[in-house]
Amino acid sequence: MDDATRRELTAWLEFYQELGIEGFYRREPVAEGRPPTLEAAQPAPPKAASPPKQVPSPAPIRGATLPASLKPAAPPLASPVAIRPPTPSFSLFEAAPAPRSGPERLEQIRQDLGDCRRCKLAPTRKTIVFGEGNPHAELVFIGEGPGADEDEQGLPFVGRAGKLLNRMMETVGLKRADVYICNVIKCRPPGNRTPEKDEVDACSPFLFRQIETIEPRLICCLGAPAVRTVLGIKEGITKIRGQFYTFGAAKALATVHPAYVLRNPREEKILREDFEKIRDFLTHKEYDNPANWDKGVIR
Ligand code: URA
Repeated sequence: MDDATRRELTAWLEFYQELGIEGFYRREPVAEGRPPTLEAAQPAPPKAASPPKQVPSPAPIRGATLPASLKPAAPPLASPVAIRPPTPSFSLFEAAPAPRSGPERLEQIRQDLGDCRRCKLAPTRKTIVFGEGNPHAELVFIGEGPGADEDEQGLPFVGRAGKLLNRMMETVGLKRADVYICNVIKCRPPGNRTPEKDEVDACSPFLFRQIETIEPRLICCLGAPAVRTVLGIKEGITKIRGQFYTFGAAKALATVHPAYVLRNPREEKILREDFEKIRDFLTHKEYDNPANWDKGVIR
């Protein structure tokens, strides 16, 4: 391996280590014409101490292409070499050696996050709001970031917006305990301002690991920052709300943030409508099969 490649590889490995990812697999070459799969990844040989011979190549989650927003932020290291970003359908998660079952892995992700100081929100936050709910949830809600109440209590959506979220869930027969709720960023921004790019870049790898671990059938993005981060869509939320998108092996629905409805009470019908779509998706078990994704309510 030449010096430049070694430096580049070292930078990436240190970056992943910062995120708590320490085990790596080296993919065997994939036969031409066959898309790479997770199964193609092989555990590293026993003498794991020796440096891997190649940068792990990208792989989609469960065989589907992920949005470009899944790309990790560039390594936060000063490096004399240009860092080549990974190709778009990159998965951080194939590198994680831990078992894939729910609660243990979420616990591991929380531990990896630690007393996070990765971005400028650390000094002003009171509590890291990791997320809460059923680790095997079929539905994951993703908001923007903790507000004052969440920062106090360390739980997502416990303030006024949370009360509205709970009410919307009740209207379609969902219980809070059955779903998982988290945010794009885990620390409250001063004055509840919109999260900034560097904050999202530092925090979103943990969000994506949470999603990967929970393996929901449906992700509900509440508001523009969640839509931008998870789906990579920059269009206005009122334009794209109510639509289903594909996220790996799950579907994702974009809707308005409950705080928007608190400010514009007449728009509650939008949220109601979208929550009815959520209920319809979850109660149609045929949507477990992606072959049916172009039919019925989610068309
Ligand atoms: N708004 C959010 O986006 N997330 C919360 O947890 C609370 C309010």
